[in-house]
Amino acid sequence: MNVLGIETSCDETAIAVVQDGRRILANVVSSQVELHARYGGVVPELASRQHLQAMVPVLDQALHEASVVLEEIDVIAVTHGPGLAGALLVGLNFAKAMALAISRPLVAVNHLEGHIYAAWLERGPEPEFPALALIVSGGHSDVVLMEGHGRYQRLGETVDDAAGEAFDKVARLLGLGFPGGPAIERLAAEAGVKAGRLPRARLERPYDFSFSGLKTKVQRIVRGEEGEAPPSAALAAAFQESVVDSLVTKAVQAATDHAVREIVLAGGVAANSQLRSVLAERSPVPVVVPPPVLCTDNGAMIATAGYQRLLDGQTSGLDLDIDPGLRIG
Ligand code: KG4
Ligand code: ZN
Repeated sequence: MNVLGIETSCDETAIAVVQDGRRILANVVSSQVELHARYGGVVPELASRQHLQAMVPVLDQALHEASVVLEEIDVIAVTHGPGLAGALLVGLNFAKAMALAISRPLVAVNHLEGHIYAAWLERGPEPEFPALALIVSGGHSDVVLMEGHGRYQRLGETVDDAAGEAFDKVARLLGLGFPGGPAIERLAAEAGVKAGRLPRARLERPYDFSFSGLKTKVQRIVRGEEGEAPPSAALAAAFQESVVDSLVTKAVQAATDHAVREIVLAGGVAANSQLRSVLAERSPVPVVVPPPVLCTDNGAMIATAGYQRLLDGQTSGLDLDIDPGLRIG
């Protein structure tokens, strides 16, 4: 069975063809990074317009790479939230038009669920439940208990900035490009010594995160309000260490408290090699994490999550709407 996965929730126009829920036949991502870079962040209106222009060429390329024709697509899975409303609408309407044109079922996918399912794509292992998912992206930092397919309970979340957002904001403070995560990771790798220990937030709920205090601290250091500023590579390394430590500490605690059988690390920030290695070191159970290219937004993760939804009998009608504020758990 060939599932077409369509993802347009933010600044990537992405379409994939995935066979039987696992095997990626094509995974085309048209990134808008350059378009938004000069503004230092994603401009929603520009994102929608760019999605409109990219949809058909990206579909053509995906079908070509997968060596399938439209009639060989069996189901259409599409992100319906969370994300930017205008951007989501482009992908959703495109998916509906296709479903109507080739008379195939339409499946709505939660973007966050897509990030989780990316972990089991290709040669990944079978999921072991209960699992603990740490979803860290540009818009979300969630600790989610996954009791089975489609069964989620959110245990913790960020009370202010998402982890990826913190990377992006601190990158801007350090004069680095957008997106900030990869830029900070590269700079931190050049640091000889770290710039001392930066704070970790203490919160009332055990699995919640907060990164805005850390960002303010970096801002004060950069402005010289805390004495002579250290080299930016040292500061980037100390910032990265603080974020990674907070994420790993909370995820490991939640995993232990809920006796899970595995931890799934998901979302764009899961591409960070420090986070991957520190979590693998400190986790009491196996850590499943997608290869870095499948951590950031892509269509294959939507196709594989959509396949599972289809197996569970969850298809949508053409009245399906976007849900920009959709949560998980
Ligand atoms: O999941 P994603 O592609 O889009 C959203 O759903 O938000 O995540 C994008 C976020 C950005 O904030 C980006 O800076 C961050 O993921 N990111 C990273 C790395 N690669 C991407 N953060 C830290 N280290 C990385 N290597
Ligand atoms: Zn994402």
